[in-house]
Parts: sequence; structure tokens; C-alpha cells
Amino acid sequence: MSLPEPERRDTRLDRYVSSYSERTQGMRASAVRALFAVANRPEVVSLAGGMPNIADLPLDVVSQTLSELVLTRGTQAMQYGSGQGEPMIREQICEVMALEGIRAHPDDITVTCGSQQGLDLVTRIFCDPGDVVLAEAPSYVGALGTFGSYQCEVVHVAMDDDGLQPDALRAAAEACIRAGQKPKFLYTIPNFNNPSGITMTMQRREQVLQVCRELDILVVEDNPYGLLTLDSDPVPAIRSLDAEQVIYLGSFSKTFAPGFRLGWVLAPHAVREKLVLAQESATLCPPVFSQFAVSAYLSNHDWKGQIVSFKDMYRSRRDAMLEALREYMPPGTTWTEPKGGFFVWVTLPEGLDSQAMLPRAVTARVAYTPGTAFYADGLGSRNMRLSYCFPTPDRIREGVRRLADVVNREFELHQTFGLDTSPTHRRSVGPGPDLQ
Ligand SMILES: Cc1ncc(COP(=O)(O)O)c(C=O)c1O
Repeated sequence: MSLPEPERRDTRLDRYVSSYSERTQGMRASAVRALFAVANRPEVVSLAGGMPNIADLPLDVVSQTLSELVLTRGTQAMQYGSGQGEPMIREQICEVMALEGIRAHPDDITVTCGSQQGLDLVTRIFCDPGDVVLAEAPSYVGALGTFGSYQCEVVHVAMDDDGLQPDALRAAAEACIRAGQKPKFLYTIPNFNNPSGITMTMQRREQVLQVCRELDILVVEDNPYGLLTLDSDPVPAIRSLDAEQVIYLGSFSKTFAPGFRLGWVLAPHAVREKLVLAQESATLCPPVFSQFAVSAYLSNHDWKGQIVSFKDMYRSRRDAMLEALREYMPPGTTWTEPKGGFFVWVTLPEGLDSQAMLPRAVTARVAYTPGTAFYADGLGSRNMRLSYCFPTPDRIREGVRRLADVVNREFELHQTFGLDTSPTHRRSVGPGPDLQ
């Protein structure tokens, strides 16, 4: 007997509205998530999402590896595992991190469900509601979401072309300390910052670390893109300079595939103990099957060679985007030139607002992420993040051409009528633009 299809019961009335925890007030739908719906439409060139292009992965090798895994060690791989993560993958993670100058012991690693969960666990063990977290301006929308969900206050610190500015960091941290709000940590993405594409120079890494040591502020270094350098060797990680002051977050999402949801946190020993407790209470253990699968992939496949081929592919996309920006964008528009990672950060001419412009861009069949998504304090309205990771070079060129047409039209309107297209001061992590 077949059961009738369940009816979907949509209602805008939420009978639990008075029952939710205060924490949910800080949870907002991210602009990026709303944009994924648009990105899926084939006629739109999406320069919005940050999906890695994994089409070049050797699927035959992966498939063979997974099938062997199930046949030979399936009962172990599909069983519960250790809250800290399996020993063999923790050892291999140490080899991966050695490529960026990090010497670490597998015992100091906690495996996580992506580095996003690493961020969540770190925030969970350090932050109470109202605590201050320092973060680059701009910063990763997913991190701002996590900090918001733990009711943290984010204080942004200015960057320039060399990364986070040590003087601005000191000033911001000291102002917080004077106000009785010592920051719990500095959150930084030193390599190819998401969204700005900026890389912190070695000198800056040392200076930033020095400020944090002097003021006794923990550094949380988030580095999912570090091995995707497009022009030179990786800059040594901040963690390679100090094992006690720095918590390091890593991920296999960009160097292998995000679907396994495998990342890690490398932390000083005492912090690691707290992280494992937090991991156990969150998930019992990180996904064992993913750990076995990634471990087998690393053992059976030339994963370093795969990273080289990913880099060649991303380099041609980055170059296509930069060339198209130079060719099509109107004067007064500037952008960063990333040395790796996935993103270019565009600054529009004075008076233009990227969030207000987005529906017009989507109508012109191109999407991007408005800059306001990457600030917790309402800034970024003249900025947008363009991703070159997913579309082909030809699609990227076409997308930038369409986008430049929209910017040109806005610019002309602004020049002719002096319209301020940025009438409101928006909060950065607010609900995504309604693109439907
Ligand atoms: C800076 C940064 N941190 C963390 C993440 C989350 O990555 P994961 O897939 O490892 O959870 C991302 C994903 O785009 C990111 O850009």
C-alpha cells in the first residue's frame, strides 16, 4: 500500500516565535546562500558563489579508491570513530601543513566537518554573548555568520595591499581593552582573503603576530586557499612562526573536494582538549567515512600534482577576469589583483551601490556578491566580490562584459542626475537580496 504524498504546509506564521533562544537573533540568511538560487539559472553568469571547480578531479581514481575502501575497510570506515579524528588522517594533515612551513604533532589536531565547523568550535569554546572578535575589513561572510550566531561583536581592522595593518590592529585592540572588552581573538585569512583576494606579506605576518603577543590576543588563522598560489610559492603560515599564540584552521575543500566536508583545527594542546570536548558534544565524532576516503585519496593519488593542475586551471580563469576588467570597466572602478585563491574585490566609482545595483545586474544576466555581505558594520556598499573559480574563462569574460555594461549605465545615470544609488545604510550580514 502506498501512502499519499505528504502535503507541504507553508505558513508564514511561526508558532514557536517566542520560544527561540536569543542566539537565533544573530543568525541571518547569508547573501551568498540567496545568490546560489540565481547562480543555478543557466542564462546567468554567476561570479557570485565560491564553489571550487572540481570537474578536473580524476573521478575514476576517486571511484576506485572509494570502492576499494568499502570492500576492504568498510566496516571500520562506516563505524563511529574518535571525537578528535582518526590518527592516520591527522598524520597526513601534518604533511599537508608542512608545505606551508608548519611543524605540528598529529595529537594537536582536531578533525572537523569543514573548516566552517572549526570556526564554530573555536568560537563556541572562547566566546560568550557580547564578546569582541577582531576581523579584517572585509572578512569571510561565513565567519561573520558564526560570530553573529554566538552573539559576538565584530570589530573590523583595516587592510591595505599588504594585508592587515598592524597599527590599525593595535589601535582597535587597545580601544577594546580600554573599554573593558579585551578581544577574544583576531580572525584572519592571510592568504587570498575571502573576499578581497589580498595576501598578508611575511613582514606583516610578523608584525601582526607581534602586536597580538604584546596584547595577549589569540590569532585564529583561517587558511583554506593557501596552497592555491597562482604566481609564487606559498608564504609561510602565521602558525609556522608561533605554536602557542595561533590556532590554525585548514580544509580539504579547495585542494580536493568540499563534499567530504573535511577540515581541521591545529591548536595548542590545552585548547585542543576543549575543542575535542566541543566536537564530541556537537557531532560525537567528525565523519569517519570522509576521513578514510580523503586519507585513501592522499595515499593513492598524486594529490600534489592535482593541486598543480587546479592551479593552472584557476590561473587561466583569474587572468581572464583581470583582462576583462581592464578591457570593460569604466574609469573610477578599481580592483585587487589576487595572487591566488578565488576572488577579486572591486570598488565601484563614488556614489554607486553594489547591493542596489544587483537586481539590475541579474536582469542583465550576471551575478556577484555585494560588498556589504563581508562587513559586520554596514560598510562595503561600493564594493563587490567577483569569483573566478567556477565559470570557464569565456563565461567569465562575458560575465564581466555584462557587468561592466550595468556599471556603465549606473555611472552615467549618476553623472547625469547625481542620483545617490546608496540611499540606505545597510547591515552587512542581513538577509540576502530578494532575487526571485
Ligand atoms: C575563508 C574561508 N574559511 C572557511 C571556509 C569554509 O570552508 P569549508 O568547506 O572547509 O568548511 C571558506 C569557504 O569558502 C572560506 O572561504
